[in-house]
Amino acid sequence: MADTDDGDSAPIGVFDSGVGGLTVLRAIRERLPRESLIYLGDTARLPYGTKSPRVVTRYAERSARVLVERGVKMLVIACNTATAEALPHLERVFAPLPVIGVVEPGAEAACARSRSGHMLVVATEGTVRSGAYRRAIEARRPGAVVHSAPCSLFVALAEEGWVDGPIVEAVARRYLEPELLEDPALDCVVLGCTHFPVLRDAIARVVGPAVELVDSAVTTARVVADRLRSRGMSAPRANAAALSLMATDAPTRFARAGAVFLGAAISEDEVEVVDL
Ligand code: DGL
Repeated sequence: MADTDDGDSAPIGVFDSGVGGLTVLRAIRERLPRESLIYLGDTARLPYGTKSPRVVTRYAERSARVLVERGVKMLVIACNTATAEALPHLERVFAPLPVIGVVEPGAEAACARSRSGHMLVVATEGTVRSGAYRRAIEARRPGAVVHSAPCSLFVALAEEGWVDGPIVEAVARRYLEPELLEDPALDCVVLGCTHFPVLRDAIARVVGPAVELVDSAVTTARVVADRLRSRGMSAPRANAAALSLMATDAPTRFARAGAVFLGAAISEDEVEVVDL
């Protein structure tokens, strides 16, 4: 259905606790330029990563519902924490709507890139506690050695727009050096939070050139494309792709910080404020 006049022109709904999921939206937009996209950042409730699974599940369901009410044809949970804690719940609640999470694609990217099978997952406390990455990696690569480090401060740095420089590097060093020392065979760091790819350069300097950094954005975009194609739901050839941005609070901040993640300017007027 990828290149016909038929198909489904409804938008794809993408959500995260904040602006981090825009890294995933960006990858989807690059891969599928004809698709309309609606993004919701639950900025009123950020961060999700330090909250309990019960609360994250409730917030994720509310965020997803706003998108479902706008008629989306697919939901993308562009948040590792919400994926780790709420994916099966959202699949059940919104069935038969396809729901795509970012953990499986991230695990797939890591397993494809790691040679030694020794990997470090850096993520929020909630994602680490859930063990979702460990299970997803071990299912694909039995015998893998999976370390994990909660790096909650990275979320605050990224939301603040502090994506590089000595402070980011010092924080990265504090979180990552003990892990690197503990396992010299580590050759892959999984950026298991959608806020982290913007910190890539600082993290790369800390881990050094022998360690690959992977994230789930590009692989998630591929999974989205495959799922749409296999269900005959891709946008028709002549579709005029639209992008709508929503936040649950602080649109000025969303626009400012979001531009770094989206890789394009966002005007405050483009950001609709919604309540959950
Ligand atoms: N971007 C979210 C993730 O991928 C989490 C940030 C947060 O709200 O703590 O987990």
